[in-house]
Amino acid sequence: MKFFVLCFLLSLGLSLAFSSITTGYSPGDIQFLYLGFVGTNLSVDETATITSNGLLELTNGTLGSKGHAFYPSPLHFLTPDGKVQSFSVTFVFGIRSSYLSMTRQGLAFVVAPSKNFTDALPNQYLGLTNIVKNNNPTNHFLAIELDTVQNVEFNDIDSNHVGIDINGLDSIHSHTVGYYDDISGSFHNLSLNSGNPMQVWVDYSGEAKQINVTMASLEMEKPARSLISTTYDLSTVIQESAYIGFSSSTDEIDSRHYVLGWSFSMNRPALKIDIAKLPKLPRNGQKPRSKLSEIILPIASASFITVVGAVIILLLRRRLHYAELKEDWEVEFGPHRFSYKDLYHATEGFKNRNLLGAGGFGKVYKGVLKSSKLEIAVKRVSHESRQGMKEFISEVVSIGRIRHRNLVQLLGYCRRKGELLLVYDYMSNGSLDKYLYCFEGKHTLNWDRRFWIIKCIASGLLYLHEKWEKVVIHRDIKASNVLLDKEMNGRLGDFGLARLYDHGTDLQTTHAVGTVGYMAPELIYSGKASPLTDVFAFGIFLLEVTCGKRPVNHNIDDDRAVLVDWVLKHWREGSLTETVDTRLHGDYNVDEACLVLKLGLLCSHPFTNERPNMQQVMQYLDRELPLPELTHADMSFGMLSLMQDEGFDPFTLSSSIGTMSSGISGGR
Ligand SMILES: Nc1ncnc2c1ncn2[C@@H]1O[C@H](COP(=O)(O)OP(=O)(O)OP(=O)(O)O)[C@@H](O)[C@H]1O
Ligand SMILES: *[C@@H]1O[C@H](CO)[C@@H](O)[C@H](O)[C@H]1NC(C)=O
Ligand SMILES: *[C@@H]1O[C@H](CO)[C@@H](O)[C@H](O)[C@H]1NC(C)=O
Ligand SMILES: *[C@@H]1O[C@H](CO)[C@@H](O)[C@H](O)[C@H]1NC(C)=O
Ligand SMILES: *[C@@H]1O[C@H](CO)[C@@H](O)[C@H](O)[C@H]1NC(C)=O
Ligand SMILES: *[C@@H]1O[C@H](CO)[C@@H](O)[C@H](O)[C@H]1NC(C)=O
Ligand SMILES: [Mg+2]
Repeated sequence: MKFFVLCFLLSLGLSLAFSSITTGYSPGDIQFLYLGFVGTNLSVDETATITSNGLLELTNGTLGSKGHAFYPSPLHFLTPDGKVQSFSVTFVFGIRSSYLSMTRQGLAFVVAPSKNFTDALPNQYLGLTNIVKNNNPTNHFLAIELDTVQNVEFNDIDSNHVGIDINGLDSIHSHTVGYYDDISGSFHNLSLNSGNPMQVWVDYSGEAKQINVTMASLEMEKPARSLISTTYDLSTVIQESAYIGFSSSTDEIDSRHYVLGWSFSMNRPALKIDIAKLPKLPRNGQKPRSKLSEIILPIASASFITVVGAVIILLLRRRLHYAELKEDWEVEFGPHRFSYKDLYHATEGFKNRNLLGAGGFGKVYKGVLKSSKLEIAVKRVSHESRQGMKEFISEVVSIGRIRHRNLVQLLGYCRRKGELLLVYDYMSNGSLDKYLYCFEGKHTLNWDRRFWIIKCIASGLLYLHEKWEKVVIHRDIKASNVLLDKEMNGRLGDFGLARLYDHGTDLQTTHAVGTVGYMAPELIYSGKASPLTDVFAFGIFLLEVTCGKRPVNHNIDDDRAVLVDWVLKHWREGSLTETVDTRLHGDYNVDEACLVLKLGLLCSHPFTNERPNMQQVMQYLDRELPLPELTHADMSFGMLSLMQDEGFDPFTLSSSIGTMSSGISGGR
């Protein structure tokens, strides 16, 4: 503080020393130099204040505010003959904002008859005037404005200009902020918004009536060529007694306008401002920030946001990945529901190496439940094809309650958009068809095993038809739906297609479902499934197991094409044993084999009333009842002759069987 006072006194002394040399100088002519404003006696108002480090802070960031600072006493500007004397002023200013490169309004050096700017407006009026008084000749002020806003109402040239204002804000002359290079003479921009301090020189020649305004960045000497040089007789403007100082205003953007140093001389060039001795501007932004917050904080927050974003995306993807469909009515089936996530993990994401096989409805995967280590088979059924999902699920759940040693246990289900997952007990020895149709070798089942499996399946089917609380029609009995557990017991699987009927009520009519070759004739033409259509399919299954041949062989053209007809032919010719699977090499019980073959023919009889029920089938197999002797009359019908009797024309029939098999084997 003492230092600045010293400077001030020193400069006064210096100016006195020069005074005798300078022409037109009288001892009363004022001269001062402020390098910072500590301890000075400026008159400040409103937001203007002198900061602790000596900056003159005209505005403090308050929006829509104004502030002024004046040299405390008025100066005498006129010569005795009423002309404005020469004067010279220079100052260093800086503009700061919380928003980098964005400040609003500006500041002005002003010469005015009064320090009272109470009725002046902030914002675009720069704290100099107001709507009514703007441009009024009685204002008697001169201002050098430094404006960061282009106000069309005042004909501003751009949003970064310096202008000479007489009595109002419509500059008589203005220029983009910058300087003319001393060497090349070309113009260089400076930006008021840059946050860097700049220096301004205003020189008035009383004789030439010329005003020069020059600007430069802080590290530069005063350029030789001024930015604005214009002729104007200030005698009409400035009055004998006038105050000099600064005015500034803000609007809706938080801006701070500072003056760092100021030098004024009447009738002489202003004293040079020693830049090194000026106070420092605060950093851009509200609070001084450390390197930590400037560099590390943004990086840290950016990476934090990235990580959080990534985690959210991952979680969302997980959610989508494991998304399920659940509806209110499913609540009651809750215990039978598996979460997709568990099934996904159990099957290692439905990997191909866990694929057990694929059927008409979808793929079957092997899995191990993580929680219980239970081995499961998961069948993925695409369920767009199914209506009545609620009925279907209730069936699934009630089927899940069926427990029998010869049935594959259904453990539960899971539902997702577009698919249904059915969870079954895993049958470690796979399905029977693999043993029947594999190439000859150690996997071939011997007769005893085959006979055992047949009895197993008969017992399972009997349970479904007669022993459980409802009649359950399997609808899809065939070798691939017969699964073998680890003791090689036969178990009837795949209740996916089954429909339930209450005991005693009429059988519902639905469309024909089943597999070609196993479908009873009445099922084909009426679509009505019944326990006896299951018996028909079971009959075909008996023939299949004994003969080791598929029910229909599309690639053979002779009488072996349709298994029933072929067995029937041999039965008629008394050569039944010729149909027994050659892979057994004659190593089988002839009585049992013939019993099974004849029972197979009986079960797959075209006439429903000729077929036995499953109770009887069990008894025949256990030899508790003798098999009724089949007569040639009973068995005189082949499949085709029967159909003809029902009113089918053989030609249309063969074509309709063709379309049926292609249609059915694909979509069922
Ligand atoms: N519970 C199970 N345990 C072990 N393997 C199974 C199980 N269920 C099915 N498989 C295997 O998956 C294969 C495909 O079964 P899937 O039921 O989808 O087809 P399918 O039986 O040939 O025809 P359908 O659709 O008429 O049932 C079966 O052949 C069988 O090998
Ligand atoms: C400050 O100015 C007032 C009048 O405005 C004057 O009385 C006072 O002496 C001045 N003080 C200094 C230190 O210049
Ligand atoms: C700015 O100055 C005004 C007037 O002195 C004052 O009321 C306000 O609190 C100041 N604001 C800040 C941010 O310093
Ligand atoms: C400043 O001027 C206004 C009117 O423009 C007046 O009301 C007020 O009293 C003046 N203040 C001073 C300190 O003279
Ligand atoms: C100078 O300012 C003008 C307009 O404000 C701008 O187009 C130009 O790019 C600036 N030039 C430099 C060198 O800053
Ligand atoms: C103003 O500038 C012109 C040329 O740039 C110069 O001739 C003149 O002397 C200057 N006047 C003052 C008062 O500095
Ligand atoms: Mg199956």
